[in-house]
Amino acid sequence: MGLDETWNAETASRYDTPGVGMFAPEVLDPVVDRLVELADGGAALEFAIGTGRVAVPLAARGVPVTGIELSEPMLAQLRTKVDAATIPVVLGDMATATAPGEFSLVYLVFNTISNLLTQADQVQCFRNAARHLRPGGRFVLELGIPDLRKLPPGQDAVVFDHREGYAGFDTYDTVNQRLTSHHYTEVAPGDIRLVRSHHRYLWPAELDLMAQLATLTLDSRHADWTGSPLTPHSPSAVSTYRKPTS
Ligand SMILES: C[S@@+](CC[C@H](N)C(=O)[O-])C[C@H]1O[C@@H](n2cnc3c(N)ncnc32)[C@H](O)[C@@H]1O
Repeated sequence: MGLDETWNAETASRYDTPGVGMFAPEVLDPVVDRLVELADGGAALEFAIGTGRVAVPLAARGVPVTGIELSEPMLAQLRTKVDAATIPVVLGDMATATAPGEFSLVYLVFNTISNLLTQADQVQCFRNAARHLRPGGRFVLELGIPDLRKLPPGQDAVVFDHREGYAGFDTYDTVNQRLTSHHYTEVAPGDIRLVRSHHRYLWPAELDLMAQLATLTLDSRHADWTGSPLTPHSPSAVSTYRKPTS
């Protein structure tokens, strides 16, 4: 099951939840504030721009934003909000596609590096970010820390959320460093919708090695976008890498 299954027209049409969840101001505002700082007066490139959850408010703050996105339905949703003159987007794979221009910031949020299902593709993605950066520019990634410690020996599934009308769990393939997230939602009484997404999970240490291969150096790492320290219990990490100035 690949990209088409996950990021299809139905997923795209349901992706935006204005004001709540990943679109809540308390989630989104700190991301945009930090990206404005990191762009440092220059242009930004979002890998896997999706429906523009982050790019649209970032562009509204005066940062020129370009995107790369693989899913046509996700891009079509973005186009209901902004035109191509405001946020140009290249339809393609973030590991290999080229966007015109030079950027002071490339960003990849919401654990989307894990959508690349091989180590080789993830390394390519770092190299592609480095290619798009001006000297001294930054690549920032938001990574979900794998929940593997919750997996007792002999078990391969972890429930990450359950509430009335929703159950979500991950199944792990620890040999191949892969996981599948399963989201079961009761959309009407007795009517269950299942969405699955496939990931190659990884830890910050592996990101650092990929950065090295792409000649980027670690600038900072925090648990979130406001600079909270990373702890053994942090569910995510925000890592910023820098391209050498010469
Ligand atoms: C979780 S969404 C994130 C979208 C947006 N960045 C956000 O924060 O809301 C993941 C996005 O990654 C895109 N995607 C997955 N693999 C990709 C690839 N190899 N190249 C470009 N986009 C990709 C999907 O189509 C989808 O739009």
